[in-house]
Amino acid sequence: MAYNLLKGKKGIIFGALDNKSIAWKVAEKAHEEGAEFTLTNTPVALRFGELDELAKMCNSEIIPADATNMADIENIFKKTMEIFDGKIDFILHSIGMSLNVRKKKVYNDLNYDFLKKTLDISAISFHKILQVANKMDAINDWGSVVALSYVAAQRTLFGYNDMADAKSLLESIARSFGYIYGRDKKIRVNTISQSPTMTTAGSGVKGIDGLMDFTDRMSPLGNATAEECANYCITLFSDLTKKVTMQNLFHDGGFSNMGMSLKAMTMYNKAFEGELD
Ligand SMILES: NC(=O)c1ccc[n+]([C@@H]2O[C@H](COP(=O)([O-])OP(=O)(O)OC[C@H]3O[C@@H](n4cnc5c(N)ncnc54)[C@H](O)[C@@H]3O)[C@@H](O)[C@H]2O)c1
Repeated sequence: MAYNLLKGKKGIIFGALDNKSIAWKVAEKAHEEGAEFTLTNTPVALRFGELDELAKMCNSEIIPADATNMADIENIFKKTMEIFDGKIDFILHSIGMSLNVRKKKVYNDLNYDFLKKTLDISAISFHKILQVANKMDAINDWGSVVALSYVAAQRTLFGYNDMADAKSLLESIARSFGYIYGRDKKIRVNTISQSPTMTTAGSGVKGIDGLMDFTDRMSPLGNATAEECANYCITLFSDLTKKVTMQNLFHDGGFSNMGMSLKAMTMYNKAFEGELD
């Protein structure tokens, strides 16, 4: 059901790759809620992904860009403001990649060139986008910028590797830039910390199946899906959350505040049956 929450709002959505991507679901929902937006991803992703299909569905233009490249980012804002004949109201940063994870380098044997890339792609790109938007005065007052994070920024989860460091930096950037953008232009900057989700990026995480099963059992409300994450993003882009800024907002069925659940305790005890006597 649509509520017209984003009627008249314009935006940029980074990171839709295929129909499993969280950004893809956000684009679908934003379109349903009356928003207009441009879509962007890397030239490689555009070749392998299915973004044309989404663009057609949402009546959006695609602007290819590497989110680590300042000239590309400036071009996205320039073109988007030309298309909409003015400033925008929301941005989704839904970007993450680690070559250490891809190449199976473990955390105590990191390749530091890969680490620099992880941080640049998954976190510093957020700063670059905010900095360019601010300098180009591209966002209307009371606009909203959201990036997607993960609980590994606060707690150690086996296998998340250097992406945990990237997410910590991402969340810190949201706070630091959120202060400046809020103070100067009344613009909100937040991160949403989403449950593990079976997407292309998600399936790269070591032991994702077991992890998803574990967090689903531990969370009183179960894991949040990509579509549910999209719904939450829409509320943050809407005028209903005008005073929410500089926050890392957990969207994980309660997982981040759990220690031990009845289900997990039962399974744990079962695993030691016989041994305990
Ligand atoms: N899937 C999960 O379990 C999960 C959980 C919490 C948070 N997140 C975060 O959600 C966001 C979206 O991931 P997803 O799960 O939808 O996976 P996804 O693979 O569909 O999206 C990741 C996107 O990042 C893009 N990207 C990579 N390098 C880029 C670059 N240099 N410039 C521009 N774009 C680039 C990819 O092309 C892709 O579209 C990421 O920040 C991810 O860390 C995912």
